[in-house]
Parts: sequence; structure tokens; C-alpha cells
Amino acid sequence: MIQLEHIDYDYQGIPALRDITYTFEMGRCYCLEGPNGCGKSTLFRILNGLAFPARGRYVLDSDAITEKRLRDDTFAKAFHAKIGYVFQNAEVQLFCKSVEDEIAFGLFQLGLPEGEIEERVEKYIRQLNLASLRKRTPYNLSGGEKKRVALAAVLAMDPPILMFDEPLSGLDEDGQCWITDFIRALKSTGKLIIISTHNRRLAGQLADVHVRMNKDHRIICP
Ligand SMILES: Nc1ncnc2c1ncn2[C@@H]1O[C@H](COP(=O)(O)OP(=O)(O)O)[C@@H](O)[C@H]1O
Ligand SMILES: [Mg+2]
Repeated sequence: MIQLEHIDYDYQGIPALRDITYTFEMGRCYCLEGPNGCGKSTLFRILNGLAFPARGRYVLDSDAITEKRLRDDTFAKAFHAKIGYVFQNAEVQLFCKSVEDEIAFGLFQLGLPEGEIEERVEKYIRQLNLASLRKRTPYNLSGGEKKRVALAAVLAMDPPILMFDEPLSGLDEDGQCWITDFIRALKSTGKLIIISTHNRRLAGQLADVHVRMNKDHRIICP
């Protein structure tokens, strides 16, 4: 469970989040909706420990998540194992020399035994239809293919929480339908899913709970 209490965030004086108080519960699919620039990606960065709020508290499963605590390797490892984050632009999260190495990378970080890593790599190559691309360099793949690789790498780690930042961005119509169906299927797995989108149709198709933000960087109370 994720609890946010009165979070503010600014980029050198530019406001990005204001007084964000919200609780995300396991097993539900939340769509974080709002116009460009309202702060959705910033909130995702905070939830993933990539940015830290100037004010307020972020509590994950009763642990306060702070910059100081994430400097502890054991704590950081346990934290990162809990949350899978698929970036808006998949490119920024792909850096290995082949698709299969990309999927294996996070599993090595988790310290899993080699046999388990091989099994999971095969499973997610199959699930995301990546067999013909497995030896390719992720860097040279199409936008849709990169998205599938990023998803495979994140899902292989089997995190209880999954976040998708603007999952339709950069995809053609077929790719958009595919990812919408894929996320819909993930909803039956009991994970907490948070999707950021400015696309009302996508939110309508997937959300159990709509979380609306406004241009003043606040969550609008329903
Ligand atoms: N790296 C940055 N430096 C300065 N301002 C930023 C940066 N990233 C985002 N912002 C600003 O913070 C606000 C929130 O941005 P963002 O979280 O990306 O919104 P969204 O994802 O909802 O489009 C916007 O006004 C944006 O211009
Ligand atoms: Mg964004």
C-alpha cells in the first residue's frame, strides 16, 4: 500500500506537485489523469525513488521512503523489487546489448539463481512475443518493440506494484490496442497498477479508480 501525505515538489521554483495526499491500495488499477504538465510524471518519479519531495511524506508498506533510507543498499534493493516502472519513453530504460540480456539484467540485480533467471527470461520472451528479437540490440528496435522489451524486463521481476507512464505514447493504433489489452489482463493478478494518462478513453477502459489532477498540480477530490 502507498500512502502520500501533503507532498509538494518544485523544479527550481517551478511548481510540479501541490499538497498531494492519497492512498493507493493493492489489487486495484488507478488511472492518474490530467492535462500535460499537471505533475503526473513527477509523481511517478517520486513513487519510484527518483525524486524526493520538498515537503510531505511517502510511505510504502509502512516504510517512509526518503533519500537517506534509499542510500542503504539492502533497503534500496527491497524497495526497487516492489515497484516496476515502465517509462513513457521506453528507450531511456534500455541499455543492454541484447533483448535477452535486458530481461535478465534486473533478475541478476535481484540476486536470483541462474536457473530461475533463465526460466523467467524464456517465459517473458514468450509472453511478449520477443523470440525473433531476442539477440537484437534494444536500441535499434521500433517504438512498439522497445515498449515490449521494457515491459518484459519489468514484469520478469514480478513486482507487486506496476506503474505505466503514458503507456500509449509513441505507439501506433495496433500497439495501443495491444498494450491496453495487456494491461487489462494484468488486472486479474492482484497487483497494484497505476497508469498515468491524459487519454480519457484509456482511463475509461482500464481504471478501477480515477485519480484526477488539475493544472494547479493538485489531486481533485471526487
Ligand atoms: N526537469 C524539469 N525541469 C523543470 N521543470 C520541469 C521538469 N520536469 C517537469 N517540469 C515541470 O513540472 C511540471 C510537471 O511536469 P510533469 O510531471 O512532467 O507533468 P505531466 O507528466 O503531467 O505532463 C510542468 O510544469 C513541467 O514543465
Ligand atoms: Mg508526463
